[in-house]
Amino acid sequence: MTDLHNIRAQFPAIKGDVIYLDSAATTQKPQAVIDCVSEYYQNQNANVHRGSHSLTALATDRFEKARRIVARFINASSPNEIIWTRGATEALNLIAQTYARSSLKAGDEILVSEMEHHANIVPWQIVAEQTGAKVVKVPITKDCQIDIEAFKSLIGRNTKIVAVAQVTNVTGTALPLEQIITLTRACSEAIVVVDGAQGIVHQPTDVQSLDADFYVFSGHKLYAPAGIGVLYGKLHLLEVMPPWHGGGKMVEKVSFEGTTFSALPGKFEAGTPNVAGVLALACAIDWLSQYDHDMLEKHVSALQQYAYQGLSELDDIRIIGFQPGASVITFVMDGVHHQDIATLLDQQNIAVRAGHHCAHPLMDALGLKGTVRASFAIYNTKEDVEAFIKAVSKAVDIL
Ligand code: ALA
Repeated sequence: MTDLHNIRAQFPAIKGDVIYLDSAATTQKPQAVIDCVSEYYQNQNANVHRGSHSLTALATDRFEKARRIVARFINASSPNEIIWTRGATEALNLIAQTYARSSLKAGDEILVSEMEHHANIVPWQIVAEQTGAKVVKVPITKDCQIDIEAFKSLIGRNTKIVAVAQVTNVTGTALPLEQIITLTRACSEAIVVVDGAQGIVHQPTDVQSLDADFYVFSGHKLYAPAGIGVLYGKLHLLEVMPPWHGGGKMVEKVSFEGTTFSALPGKFEAGTPNVAGVLALACAIDWLSQYDHDMLEKHVSALQQYAYQGLSELDDIRIIGFQPGASVITFVMDGVHHQDIATLLDQQNIAVRAGHHCAHPLMDALGLKGTVRASFAIYNTKEDVEAFIKAVSKAVDIL
């Protein structure tokens, strides 16, 4: 048995008839991660950083060990640079409402690529409204790349934040982060925020060598449960940022005369956290780390290439912004609603996503209302792709 066969067998939810090609929306979970969650609730379940009994001490140890595992996974310089959030979306809102809200002023600019997910657009629009700053769109080229020449012309003295994805969710475009960060440093005093929600699972990420100021990701696209995510920030930035949510754990001393706040990372972690989610995220990272990353990525991109060949042979299908080597493929059938294609695929047990993919500005730039997106993960097989192509071909005949 190859490693890959062994991997597929570990995902109980795809043992039945369904061919799951929607991993960019959320990945399936391996048994090890599912067991981690139920083991925690069955045998332990205690709050963390509170109380004085053995269960809470054990839960706290495991919770902080998980933080060290995540810090090592992305090579943060300290576990204090890892803040637990509900996901990438909450992490981006945290940056907007703390760092940005306390530092932006009228006339400042936030550069955001046109291909971003709404989670990396709307928080900036909200804080721009609050501060008088402006969100400036960085356009894309015809082949769905960031327009670097336009970026060069837009970045300057007024730019205070550059917000970009590591990999976009609709076309799977990998942004040239090194170039973007180098240009940002050379032409402005802006900080760079990277949305790693789609990228972390496909690209080994070293935040120190990347040199982004903030990097965020969600657990649920990394084989962990939904409801847990990570904000990485450079220590010197996190230290001076004001707190966001107020409550227990984020305080040092509360009185009606005034309150002082916890040191990092507690300052940004008000309330009882998602302990099971934190442990399961660390478990997912450990589980994934046992496999050779290059082997997994070669497998995923071979599936995407195979899907590309199959779809290219179907006359009525138009592939949008194809990115060789990515994990997704996005397409339309002119004159047919994307949802109708997805429904016909669903009737043949193929799960894909159809719609605007939470990326209205990208859809507008492409002149589309929506697309059908198939996304591939390490548990998919060549047979899955063959069934998918057959199902699309049948949908084309029907429509
Ligand atoms: N952002 C997720 C997707 O691309 C939900 O489907």
